[in-house]
Amino acid sequence: MPEIDSQAPVIRLPEPCLKGNLSLEEAITRRRSVRSFSTEAVTPAQLSRVLWAAQGITDMGRDLRAVPSAGATYPLEVYVVCGQDGVAGIGAGVYRYHPARHSLTLHLGGDFRADLARAALSQGCVARAPLTIVIGAYFTRTTRGYGQRGEMYVHIEVGHAGQNIYLQAAALGLATVAVGAFRDQAVREALHLEADCQPLYLMPLGKTA
Ligand SMILES: Cc1cc2nc3c(=O)[nH]c(=O)nc-3n(C[C@H](O)[C@H](O)[C@H](O)COP(=O)(O)O)c2cc1C
Repeated sequence: MPEIDSQAPVIRLPEPCLKGNLSLEEAITRRRSVRSFSTEAVTPAQLSRVLWAAQGITDMGRDLRAVPSAGATYPLEVYVVCGQDGVAGIGAGVYRYHPARHSLTLHLGGDFRADLARAALSQGCVARAPLTIVIGAYFTRTTRGYGQRGEMYVHIEVGHAGQNIYLQAAALGLATVAVGAFRDQAVREALHLEADCQPLYLMPLGKTA
């Protein structure tokens, strides 16, 4: 289970804006997997909305999130692998998203996109997108209560998160693709993830080239 490093500088994300210009139906229609990205930076406001859609808190009182979770066990952890100038004003690095604080902390400094792309069978979209959102899971958070069936629940849950990212990206005029073809251990090593963190999805994000 990753500890929250109280020393790590906290990057507060802008409050996620809850009004969009696109209807849900239009976002579903526009959603497409895109593998070719421009080098234009994603704005902090856009990243804020995408991360909020992936795992943000939508009910503060009860600590419930944008994505359903079996028994509200929340096994998913979200990381952002950001290239130099991938997000305006945020340096190259691997950042961890904290839903409760809607903020990022630096997990690793530097541009790790090429290492991540190698772990993903050299898929060019991972190497070239301004950033990639990595969703990992700590299965025991869910299997503790649900046993082996909890494993299936975690896989279902990451699909919810991935779809929210797709739809939020479409609503913002951004693009993404759900990447499931990668070597688990190579992703762990590239991003210094813990041994019990199972990477499940990589989602490069940016403007279509
Ligand atoms: C579980 C899963 C894994 C996927 N893995 C990859 C991948 O590794 N690389 C890739 O380019 N696309 C991947 N995709 C995206 C699919 O290729 C894409 O959804 C499909 O071609 C349909 O296109 P659409 O998403 O634009 O409707 C994956 C999709 C899913 C649901």
